Amino acid sequence: MKPARRGVFHPLLSICLAVLFLFPSAAYQNVSDNTLKSLPRPGKDFDIHDGAILSPILIPRVAGTPGSTTVLNHFVDFFRTSLPTWNVEFQNSTSVTPVSDGKEIPFVNFIASRDPPWALKGDVGRLTLVAHYDSKYEPEGFIGAIDSAAPCAMIMHAMRSIDDALTKKWESMKAKGDAHSSLDDHIGIQVIFLDGEEAFKAWTATDSLYGSRALAQHWDSEVNPAMSVYKTPLSSISLFVLLDLLGAKQPEIGSYYPTTHWAYQKLANVERRLRDLNMFKSGGRDWFPDASKNEHEIARYNPVEDDHLPFLQRGVEVMHIVDFAPIRGFPDVWHTMDDDGEHLDIDTVEDWSLLFAGFAAEWMELEGFMPDSKAERSVHPAEDKPAPQKRRSDKTELF
Ligand SMILES: *[C@@H]1O[C@H](CO)[C@@H](O)[C@H](O)[C@H]1NC(C)=O
Ligand SMILES: *[C@@H]1O[C@H](CO)[C@@H](O)[C@H](O)[C@H]1NC(C)=O
Ligand SMILES: [Zn+2]
Repeated sequence: MKPARRGVFHPLLSICLAVLFLFPSAAYQNVSDNTLKSLPRPGKDFDIHDGAILSPILIPRVAGTPGSTTVLNHFVDFFRTSLPTWNVEFQNSTSVTPVSDGKEIPFVNFIASRDPPWALKGDVGRLTLVAHYDSKYEPEGFIGAIDSAAPCAMIMHAMRSIDDALTKKWESMKAKGDAHSSLDDHIGIQVIFLDGEEAFKAWTATDSLYGSRALAQHWDSEVNPAMSVYKTPLSSISLFVLLDLLGAKQPEIGSYYPTTHWAYQKLANVERRLRDLNMFKSGGRDWFPDASKNEHEIARYNPVEDDHLPFLQRGVEVMHIVDFAPIRGFPDVWHTMDDDGEHLDIDTVEDWSLLFAGFAAEWMELEGFMPDSKAERSVHPAEDKPAPQKRRSDKTELF
């Protein structure tokens, strides 16, 4: 985030607002056990042969090929039928690749978002969940189940799990007339399925990340309407959560960025609580070994080049959820023909989707609005807020 680039007519106020928007208080407040217990499992929808969400993605889908279009249509159908209130758009670009004989290959990024109904586009800060949907050019027939068909499916299920609660929350705020009055009312959510992450030949700065480079550049140059809180769509990303290489058993996820370590700890906390509530099927040990460290103790070096880079380099706050361990490296099936549906650990894939639903419910402040969860807000003051916790009270002073 680049506060210096905000501020149109009232620089001081704008900067304050921007800082307030950065960390929604939602992110600090635990949802209740009831809310976590209400999260649905994907079950049949994650069947690798005929499941409605996952199986259509488990096909070769190299950028610019018919498989890619098929998967893109699957995303569009899913949002149109299951999440019809979401706004769906594409961001397209073309590029030559080392194997295209000078021909331009099309890259299509899929973007779906949902904002509070009263909010102006440029005033919404969005929790942004990201995965790439393209598959590798070689070996021929490569599926890429953990890379990243399963992460796409996890995000789809997680968004469907919280969508009704979002509607209820916003309707309730509207009915009470407190919409517009607080900055909490401008928290939105966004899904990005990126094209062209994989290299066609060998990973280089130009042969990789085709979709993310195009989108980051486009969103950095597009300007929101005058007097918006956020100057560009890029700065409207409150947190860029990138999922990659997820779906193998016993993942190990590092924390690499001090400024988003608090979010990593929140995710780890939701994981711990889901385990304690016996909602995880996969067993084993915790997935987030850095959770007990503070932000000064983490590695601060991310060895994994991925779709976050074009965004990180432009100042976006990133949380990179990638299964990578210092000695083991990536999961065994990585970039081999074994990375297919059969090699997924479906319990783990389902558990991930619950975890991201729980994390999103917490971020979007959905306590009391999930189905069957008791309509009660936590009465405990948030004790585990990191340093910038005064914001909630600051907010009311501004309006
Ligand atoms: C981008 O490409 C998709 C898929 O080919 C197409 O449906 C869409 O209309 C294009 N969008 C724009 C803005 O060009
Ligand atoms: C949130 O949950 C974690 C783990 O159960 C707990 O340690 C922490 O105190 C809780 N925070 C609040 C504000 O209840
Ligand atoms: Zn890959």
